[in-house]
Amino acid sequence: MRGLRPVEQHALGGGLRGAVDTSLSQASILIVDDDSKSLLALQGLLQSATQKVVLAKSGEEALRCVLKQDFAAILLDARMPGVDGFETARLIRERERSRHTPIIFLTGAYEDLHSVFRGYEAGAVDYIVKPLVPEILKSKLSVFVELYNKNAVLIREIAERKRAEEHLRKSEENLRALAAHLQSVREEEWARIAREIHDELGQSLTGLKMDLTWVANRLSGDQRALVEKTKSMFGLIDGTIQSVRKIASQLRPEVLDQLGLTAAIEWHAADFRKRTGIRCKLSLPSDTLMLDRERSTAAFRIFQELLTNVARHANATRVDVAMRVDSGALVLTVEDNGKGIAESSIYDPKSLGLLGMRERVLPFGGAIEVAGVQGKGTKVRVSIPLGLK
Ligand SMILES: Nc1ncnc2c1ncn2[C@@H]1O[C@H](COP(=O)(O)OP(=O)(O)OP(=O)(O)O)[C@@H](O)[C@H]1O
Ligand SMILES: [Mg+2]
Repeated sequence: MRGLRPVEQHALGGGLRGAVDTSLSQASILIVDDDSKSLLALQGLLQSATQKVVLAKSGEEALRCVLKQDFAAILLDARMPGVDGFETARLIRERERSRHTPIIFLTGAYEDLHSVFRGYEAGAVDYIVKPLVPEILKSKLSVFVELYNKNAVLIREIAERKRAEEHLRKSEENLRALAAHLQSVREEEWARIAREIHDELGQSLTGLKMDLTWVANRLSGDQRALVEKTKSMFGLIDGTIQSVRKIASQLRPEVLDQLGLTAAIEWHAADFRKRTGIRCKLSLPSDTLMLDRERSTAAFRIFQELLTNVARHANATRVDVAMRVDSGALVLTVEDNGKGIAESSIYDPKSLGLLGMRERVLPFGGAIEVAGVQGKGTKVRVSIPLGLK
């Protein structure tokens, strides 16, 4: 390349500085020219503290450079012996790494329009006619350097965001797993305590009652005060047996383990009617459900929570409960005729009861849908895939 006007080099030194963010790794410009003097002149003009210049004396050398590093732009002399500028541009475009690197052709003033078109066809984004005017060269390059730097910032931001998202996803996953684990540990613990209360206390109380019967049988009719005392003791023991049963079944209803989910729902609904006076209509499957312990526990606990919510918040007079197996999933719906849950409560992060229900079905890939109509009632649909093949 010939024709650079050396006087103007000095007049315009540092024209790129405003466009370059010095906090970034330096942007590099590749200059390809077979003429050493032009290469050095361009290097002197373009090299700065914020911008690196790499020189290549041939198309082959340029191709080796673009394989090794990224460039903000490539200045390419169109006329070179061997692989000329057009061919070099085509090959640069073929490489994955340099597919989008902007190429600016340097063409002689005598080049016709045809060469300019050839340059664009080969992948050039711009061309500069010799003799070079440093202002034009610098301002054209500054656009690409700025683009390159902005792109680098974007790429870094995207990578950081991806890392943060991945981190968040992982910790969310861990929290979920921990919550599920704690839930099952708690269920196991409740079941164990329920068994112990039932067996140990139940047996002691039965033993106590038998002993008391023995004592009572040995009392004669004239020991009135003692007879009265044993009677009240019988009453106390029976009351305690009832309480023990109640506490044990609240912790873990025996009926759930022995008779299954349908029976446990019937039992809990009967208890709910008795306690609250709210009518509760059931529509349950007549066939035995083939459910594992985890799924029946989850469904039962959700059912308990839903009825508790009806009793506490709905001000309802009636609840309709339906359970069925639909498309490979257990579907439980609980619908009341109360005041209707407010839209804002449904996804309120403070609605821990609802959140807990959602978490309970997540391990099975299930879902909970809640809908409320003001003054009409609330409907909750719980679905738990059965996971059968
Ligand atoms: N059946 C319902 N009818 C009307 N409002 C309801 C009903 N169920 C829930 N809500 C509303 O949604 C809110 C959130 O329910 P959620 O079960 O998450 O929490 P909670 O019952 O208030 O407390 P927790 O269940 O943690 O003891 C309730 O405070 C209540 O305002
Ligand atoms: Mg609740």
